[in-house]
Amino acid sequence: MKIVTLLGAPGSGKGTQAKRLSESGKFLHFSTGDMLRKAIANREPTGLSADVFIKRGELVPDQVMIDLVRSAVRVVPSTSNVLLDGFPRTLPQAHALDSTLEIRVTAAVFLDVPGSVLLDRLTGRRICRKCGELFHITFFAPRKLGTCDKCGGDLFQRPDDQVDVVSKRLEIFAGQNSMLLSYYFESGRLTKIDGNRSADSIQSDLAVQLR
Ligand code: AP5
Ligand code: MG
Repeated sequence: MKIVTLLGAPGSGKGTQAKRLSESGKFLHFSTGDMLRKAIANREPTGLSADVFIKRGELVPDQVMIDLVRSAVRVVPSTSNVLLDGFPRTLPQAHALDSTLEIRVTAAVFLDVPGSVLLDRLTGRRICRKCGELFHITFFAPRKLGTCDKCGGDLFQRPDDQVDVVSKRLEIFAGQNSMLLSYYFESGRLTKIDGNRSADSIQSDLAVQLR
C-alpha cells in the first residue's frame, strides 16, 4: 500500500494531477477540500463549521481535519494505494498521519510553482458543478463558455477563488509550507517536482516518481 501526499500551494495543480492519477486506476484520491465542499453542500455539521474558515481563506482546525481524514481512510482496502490532496497542511496533521491515523505517508511530492503564477491559476479556475472537471479560462478553456466539455454541466467559480480570499490562502500556505517540507525531507520522503510546466509533463514525471 502506497500512501502519497501531494503538497503544494493553492493552485499548484494538486487536484489536476490527482484526478489524472486516480483515473489511471492506480490510486484512490482523497481531496480534503472536496470533502469539505461536499459536507457544506449537504449542510452537514462539519461542513457548516468549516465553511466559516474556508470563506475567510483560513485553515479549518487540525482536529476537525484529522477526524475527517480518519473516517475517510478507515474504509480503504489494505491493497489500495492512496493519494492525499490537501492533507496534511500543518505539522500536527503530518504527525497525526504518521501516528494516530496509522497510514504512514510513503512519499510526499511537492509541486513547486512560483507565487507569481498562482493568482492567475486560481482566479481563472472554473469547475463543473455536475462532474467536478477542472477548467481554466485561459490554460484549459472549455470549448463552450461556461459549459463542461465532458458532461455539459454548468461551470462555476469557487467562492474562495476571489482575489482577496486567494491572497489570504497564499499567505497561510507560505506560513506552513517550509515546516512541512522539512518534516518530509528529514525523514527521506520528499520529492520536488517543477509544477510550472504543462500539466502533461508534470503528469509524466509523477508517473515515474510514483512507479
Ligand atoms: P483545497 O480545495 O484543497 O484548496 P487548495 O489547497 O487551496 O488548493 P486548490 O484546490 O485551490 O488548488 P490545486 O492545487 O488543487 O490546483 P488545481 O489543480 O485545481 O482547500 C480549500 C479550503 O479547505 C482551504 O483553504 C481550507 O480552508 C480548507 N482545507 C482543506 N484541506 C485542509 C486541511 N488539510 N487543513 C485545514 N484546512 C483545510 O489547479 C488550479 C487551476 O490551475 C485550475 O484552473 C487548473 O486548470 C489550472 N492548472 C493546473 N495545472 C496547471 C498547469 N500545469 N498549467 C496551467 N494551469 C494549470
Ligand atoms: Mg484542489
